[in-house]
Order: sequence, then structure tokens, then C-alpha cells
Amino acid sequence: MCVPERVLTNDDLAQLVDTSDGWIRARTGIERRHVAGPQETTAQMAVDAARKALQVADADPRDIDLIIIGTATPDHLFPSAACLVQDALGATRAGAFDVNAGCSGFVYALVLGHQAIVSGEHKLVLVIGADTMTRVIDWQDRSTCVLFGDGAGAVLLRASEGPAGVLSTLLGSDGSGAELLMIPAGGSAMPASRETVEQGQHYLRMEGRQIFRFATQVIPQATRSVVRKAGLRVKDIDLIIPHQANLRIITVASKRLRVPLDRFAISLQEYGNTSAASVPIALCDAVDAGRIGPGDNIVMVGFGAGLTWAALALKWSVAPAEAVSPAYRVWWRWLLYRWAAIRRSLRQALRRLMMLLIRRADRHGPH
Ligand code: ACO
Repeated sequence: MCVPERVLTNDDLAQLVDTSDGWIRARTGIERRHVAGPQETTAQMAVDAARKALQVADADPRDIDLIIIGTATPDHLFPSAACLVQDALGATRAGAFDVNAGCSGFVYALVLGHQAIVSGEHKLVLVIGADTMTRVIDWQDRSTCVLFGDGAGAVLLRASEGPAGVLSTLLGSDGSGAELLMIPAGGSAMPASRETVEQGQHYLRMEGRQIFRFATQVIPQATRSVVRKAGLRVKDIDLIIPHQANLRIITVASKRLRVPLDRFAISLQEYGNTSAASVPIALCDAVDAGRIGPGDNIVMVGFGAGLTWAALALKWSVAPAEAVSPAYRVWWRWLLYRWAAIRRSLRQALRRLMMLLIRRADRHGPH
């Protein structure tokens, strides 16, 4: 995972808008969030998280077949953030694309990555959830600006014959709720203009209460559904990793599922709602805290703009002790990343040279 260094506490926010640490903690559970600096972007955080995942898995970026990023805040409308990540990693054999499913983006991407492996077409798939939500929120709107933070999390899926891995999946959507959570301007419906900027139409708009209702219904439903599909019972699940939007949402879901809160991964107090990054960041925190071990049954469940929801049940197989790269392999990857940067410059220079030659040939050729 990767989060920006800069931290914004609730007290810091109380200097910006009419809010308080007490209100934010009581209504959301959030204590602080990490906020990207001007030079930090979704793709950069995704690259950082991906390099760490490659290190943990001791994998070579040139072996990656596919890169899928769940994000609603890519660096540009196009190209995809996944292509920028592909280039920075030197993943020369990989296909790359983004999935926009709001805060469900990572779980959506994970389901697609799993299916790519099951199809037999791909052996090593890099799945990332990354968002820079602080770039699309109105810092004068206290009802939204206190909720979000920035970050990225990455996992590598590898084909294997082992008994562990993804057990069942679920994707869902309900576009009738599109207006409950949206950025109205900047797309083809309302292209960016002076008016859209003046009216703040390029900022996130949210019907908080309706999203709250939706989330507290969909987390238990989606969790029960994937658990049943996996041939398990809810009590067999060792850890549920929900989208980290609000502690109250997770608390209601825990009551509805009759699963104690200590069997949920919760990291929103430190990072806020990092949108598509929240599930992989909570996963990393849980692994680091030793809360996940081989043989554990895990459920990940996301919900967000669309409306969308997604869930996935899996049996964990990696022992933490396995996850150590030898030093020479760390160096080797470092060299590959340097080479990826040189390769990019060479290819760009070559393209410019080709264009110069073509223009020259056009000028001097027969007309
Ligand atoms: N500080 C102080 N007061 C505030 C703040 C704030 N930051 N924000 C709102 N208030 C006030 C409101 O103005 C309102 O005042 P009023 O009663 O005088 O009108 C009062 O607090 C209650 O406002 P509500 O919006 O009803 O507060 P609620 O208890 O519903 O909490 C919240 C708001 C936290 C946004 C909640 O609705 C929620 O968590 N909803 C889910 C939102 C969410 O999770 N979104 C992201 C998920 S989807 C995704 O991740 C992309």
C-alpha cells in the first residue's frame, strides 16, 4: 500500500470548515486522513503500491500479464492510470485498463483479475485500488470534505493449483441511484467550462443519508451471498474487509450479520475513506497486524458510486515468512524500474525523430 506522507487531522479540518473533532469521530469514526501533495497523483501512488506488492511476492514486472486499476480519479480522463503504471513498472507484456466502479472499484477489479486467471489466458495479474479523492472534493463543503483521504493498495494474483484462492464472487449495480453520488461536470454530459467551475459542478456531490442506508443493506446481503456461494457459513469467516466509508456503517452491518465488530478489518480512523483504495489498504493493515494467516477465510465487500457493490470470498494462502525478497532480487527490480524510465525516454525520442523524418519526407517528396 501507499499513502501520502501529509496528514490532515480532524482538528486541522476544523480550521477550514465549521466542524469539530468530536462531530467527525462520533459520526464517522475517522480521526485523520492522508492527503496527496501537488506532485502526487493516483498513478504515482499506484506505482508505489505495485512495486511493494512485487517485492512482497518477489515477482518480476515483466511477467505481469494484466494490470487492472479500480479508480474513479485517474490522472486523466484518458489514458488510463493502468497504462501509466504499466510503463513505470516496465511491465512490457501486460495489458492494462481501469475500472470505474466508484468505491467498489478494487473489489470489481479483483473479481475481473480472478476471472482472467480462471480463463487460463493469464498467469500473473496485478490488481490495484487507487484514488485521490481530495482532488475532487469541495474543501468548503463540511458534509463531504471531512470524509475522504488519498491512497493506493495493490495485490498480485498468481495462477496456482493450490487449494486456496478466490472461492466465490459477486458484482452488482443499480444505476437508478446514479445521482446519489456523482461528479456532475467534466464528462460528456457536462463538459468542463467556466460556468461548471464557477458553480462547483466538478466537485463530488453526495446524498449522505441515502448512501448510508444503501451501504448498511448491501454489505450484509453481498457478504451472505458470497459466503453461501463459497459453501461456507458466515461464522466460518475469519475476517471481513468492508469498504472503509464510515464506522457506523460497519457497526450496523456487523449487527445485521451477527458478526462481532472485531472480525471486521477497520482502518478508516487513520486514512478516512480512500474510495477504491480502502479495501486493499485495510487488507495490508490486517496482514501487517498478523490478523490474516494461511487457511483463513476472508470476505472483501465494496459499495459505492453507480450505485455499485461487489464482494469476494477467498481462502488466504500466503504465510508472512514466505514474503521476503532476497537482496539481489530487490536490486534487480530497482534496475528494471530505472530501465523502464530510460526505455520510456528512448521510445518518446524515437517517436519524435520518426515524426521529424516523416515531415521532412513530406516536404521534399513529390506532390
Ligand atoms: N461537522 C459538523 N456538522 C456537520 C458536518 C460536519 N462535518 N457535516 C454535516 N453536519 C451537520 C449537518 O449540517 C446537519 O445539521 P442540521 O441538522 O443543522 O441540518 C447535521 O450535521 C446532520 O447532518 P446529516 O447529513 O444528517 O448527518 P449524518 O448523521 O447523516 O452523517 C454522514 C453524515 C457522515 C455523511 C453520513 O450520512 C454518512 O456517513 N453517510 C454515508 C456516506 C458515505 O459513506 N459516503 C461514502 C460512501 S460511498 C463512497 O465511498 C464513494
